[in-house]
Amino acid sequence: MAKSRIQFICQNCGSVHQRWAGKCDACGEWNTLVEEGTSGGIGSGPANTRNARKGRPVVLTSLSGDIEDAPRIVSGIGELDRATGGGFVRGSALLVGGDPGIGKSTLLTQAAAALAAKGHRIVYVSGEEAVAQIRLRAQRLGVAGAPVELAAETNVEDILATIADGKRPDLVILDSIQTLWTDMADSAPGTVTQVRAAAQAMIRYAKSTGAAIVLVGHVTKEGQIAGPRVVEHMVDAVLYFEGEGGHHYRILRTVKNRFGPTDEIGVFEMSDKGLREVANPSELFLGERHAKSPGAAVFAGMEGTRPVLVEIQALVAPSTLGTPRRAVVGWDGARLSMILAVLEAHCGVRFGTHDVYLNVAGGYRISEPAADLAVAAALVSSLTGLALPADCVYFGEISLSGAVRPVAHAQQRLKEAEKLGFGSAVLPLGSEELAGGNGVGGIGADTFQPTELADLVARIAGSRRSRADEQE
Ligand code: TYD
Ligand code: MG
Repeated sequence: MAKSRIQFICQNCGSVHQRWAGKCDACGEWNTLVEEGTSGGIGSGPANTRNARKGRPVVLTSLSGDIEDAPRIVSGIGELDRATGGGFVRGSALLVGGDPGIGKSTLLTQAAAALAAKGHRIVYVSGEEAVAQIRLRAQRLGVAGAPVELAAETNVEDILATIADGKRPDLVILDSIQTLWTDMADSAPGTVTQVRAAAQAMIRYAKSTGAAIVLVGHVTKEGQIAGPRVVEHMVDAVLYFEGEGGHHYRILRTVKNRFGPTDEIGVFEMSDKGLREVANPSELFLGERHAKSPGAAVFAGMEGTRPVLVEIQALVAPSTLGTPRRAVVGWDGARLSMILAVLEAHCGVRFGTHDVYLNVAGGYRISEPAADLAVAAALVSSLTGLALPADCVYFGEISLSGAVRPVAHAQQRLKEAEKLGFGSAVLPLGSEELAGGNGVGGIGADTFQPTELADLVARIAGSRRSRADEQE
């Protein structure tokens, strides 16, 4: 065995330090350096130079040539297959990350059962729960009859020996990567070296045999897959399973995918009998909508290839504080400050003495800049106390100059809005997809296409006047 030297590895970013320190220089985290031996760890070079063999030349080839589609195994759980890009790819490794208790084991148990019922060989290895616990979950999910092969084991060599027995498995689920350890590395389970070495061994197994493997990883409160961020670049695809505490639905989000699109989401609802697919997320996010209250605007968003309608709620209230509060849930705080600044600078709307709260209904998270227009409408509506039309959707990006900029997929957004019974829309001018001229996505009669944000503000403010006229 090679002489082992002590080194310190940051459990957050994986960088190696020769000396212990309170703070990692590389990522700036505190108290993340842990002492680990170097022998046998990945990246430490061959442990025994006597066994070193001479390199074997490989055949170099060209960029063009025959390609086959990645062979996939389809689970039949539509939302899961959508997020993976059409099913688990044989010979690939997939990482499913998420907070503890979010439902990763539940989702994978359901997927395992569905695949096993179709005649695939599925092995589920749990390092976290005892067999009895997993059986209990399977009973609750009503899948206890499925021929899934189950083990509670944490040693990689033992797992590999177990699955080498019999027919090659189609899918191996390892729950979770943080509990795995290998004889190859001599640090404690859960450390970066162990997680990396264990993942490496499993990925090598997947590539060499053509079995698909799924690694489950817990996420830290900072939103990173705990410790093994290093695993993220080793695997072929990374999915995050997320949800807001207190809400029942869960979103499976693709972060990386070498075999498919990375902007897809799968939407599930957690029930007492496991996860249920939500085929139409808009209905879920708009479910508890009460017509006509000031400060609410419906945003027609896109998640990957799928339109999603969500309600954006704003509350603008007079502040008693010297520096008024700005609180955001489900959107970017910096982006809110930008919209507030644009409203002040170009539209003459003053928020300086008001607290501003912004919430995306249902605990959903929006990352698209296309939500700018809906946010601005909600803010102005709340400040003026004028409710926006209940059957109207909003989308469009706002630039710092106060101009409303076009966004992609206008047609699809409008189609979804129409399907859900919305009769009007506020959207940017010049969405090139609409240039055809045959009305705007069917809502033709009732669209408003401002070029400046000030036009929209004037329209909302103008609704007060027209309402007063009606009452006269
Ligand atoms: P679990 O899959 O164990 O989470 P993870 O593997 O991500 O840690 O899910 C745990 C939670 O889900 C737990 O709080 C109970 C809840 N749950 C249900 O609400 N319904 C169900 O049918 C199941 C199996 C779990
Ligand atoms: Mg679990």
